[in-house]
Amino acid sequence: MPDSKLIVCSLPSILALLLIFILVKRKKSRLNLPPGNTGWPFLGETIGYLKPYSATSIGNFMEQHISRYGKIFKSNLFGEPTIVSADAGLNRFILQNEGRLFECSYPRSIGGILGKWSMLVLVGDMHRDMRSISLNFLSHARLRTHLLREVEKHTLLVLSSWKENSVFSAQDEAKKFTFNLMAKHIMSMDPGVPETEQLKKEYVTFMKGVVSAPLNFPGTAYRRALQSRSTILKFIEHKMEDRIEKMREGRETLDDDDLLGWVLKHSNLSTEQILDLILSLLFAGHETSSVAIALAIYFLQGCPNAIQQLREEHQEIASAKKQLGEIELNWEDYKKMEFTQCVISETLRLGNVVRFLHRKALKDVRYRGYDIPCGWKVLPVISAVHLDPSLFPQPQQFDPWRWQKNATQGSSSSGCPSMTSSNNFLPFGGGPRLCTGSELAKLEMAVFIHHLVLNYHWELADMDQAFAFPFVDFPKGLPIRVRHYAFI
Ligand code: HEM
Repeated sequence: MPDSKLIVCSLPSILALLLIFILVKRKKSRLNLPPGNTGWPFLGETIGYLKPYSATSIGNFMEQHISRYGKIFKSNLFGEPTIVSADAGLNRFILQNEGRLFECSYPRSIGGILGKWSMLVLVGDMHRDMRSISLNFLSHARLRTHLLREVEKHTLLVLSSWKENSVFSAQDEAKKFTFNLMAKHIMSMDPGVPETEQLKKEYVTFMKGVVSAPLNFPGTAYRRALQSRSTILKFIEHKMEDRIEKMREGRETLDDDDLLGWVLKHSNLSTEQILDLILSLLFAGHETSSVAIALAIYFLQGCPNAIQQLREEHQEIASAKKQLGEIELNWEDYKKMEFTQCVISETLRLGNVVRFLHRKALKDVRYRGYDIPCGWKVLPVISAVHLDPSLFPQPQQFDPWRWQKNATQGSSSSGCPSMTSSNNFLPFGGGPRLCTGSELAKLEMAVFIHHLVLNYHWELADMDQAFAFPFVDFPKGLPIRVRHYAFI
């Protein structure tokens, strides 16, 4: 074809492309995006966003961006154009419109390590099915009948190993407690036996990779974690085969009433799905609660008045039980732990175990005059709301009394209004993806605090503080020195 003919033939396509380009450009320029800076190509502002900072603050990045652009701003994070929200109303709006306007969207590396059937990455019907298994297993009834007893047993196992005047990592002890509890609850594995210890060791390597940069090269933490993932999965699969054999031969015991047994009997999930479900529950249920317990130990050692009030509450419960000749905690005892619940809420508000969530817009969304374009990443930063001085006065102060029901507007012991019914408090997320383990997490913290304040004095053996990496961690492991405390 001669050149001139070629040009004439391609002219309509060129014009069409040009028209599309102009229309897209015009639409973009008509959009009222929130103010902000998209930073460097590809990297955007990710490095600044992920720079570690004190866990009781929102960090330099958020502070500077909020003061420059306001609580809703645009950026480029994790390789994608992003809307960041430190706005309580928008955060709620995002979480409540899951599946309609927004959808859970964690970075691909999370799926690579937790598995494609992990609840954190699933969306739609499959997410709903997995979620209902998890809800069933962590139901209120199970908490009362099974879990309270187990939580207390595992608390006592850890606390009874603490020697007078010894120094150890409170964070490691909290991890030991939550890991043992989860291993028992999910696969009926007993603490201290070689297979549980082996799994725990693998799991530590696995965790280092979950929180590291997703660089799959020899020698990286991510690569080692992928190897640990396959070792852990083989281990779980072996347990599964054993259990199927036991069920076939009718050799099941009461001990087998765990998550593994439940999914094998009541679901038609594939082996791969069961493995990812178990691994992700082990992850979700172990890491978060252990950090929350370590944070409570840390905040309380800096607040003697709170320890004093906790002791009074728990001594009353323990004395009443002694009179009745009861030993184990029951649900009624748990319900009496009112001030403890304030301590738990305040720990979660100030410590922010989970700082932000990953979502993407499924449609073009307009919120308070701003446009959030379809396909953009959206980050509800829940920690920024919990540390917002216009919502929580003196937000950096550990003040459990602000949660007391009878704290009238502006007149709690610290002058803070009661926030118990506040819907600005979302430590467990919200909407259709609200944490399924939130009640278990609070139960674990309450029972741990009960036995801690009744049996020990503790102090920091070395300066340490929680950092957000953005996962929350105590760099020195929170070293504490303990002395026995006898209340009666
Ligand atoms: C203090 C402790 C905990 C905190 C702060 C916490 C926080 C959260 C948050 C913020 C989410 C929402 C994630 C999102 O929307 O993208 C979540 C989801 C989840 N959590 Fe927790 N969690 C805790 C403890 C637990 C425990 C003990 C378990 C289970 C044993 C658990 C199991 C889950 C599961 C399965 C999901 C996914 C729910 C879904 O996608 O439908 N969590 N958690």
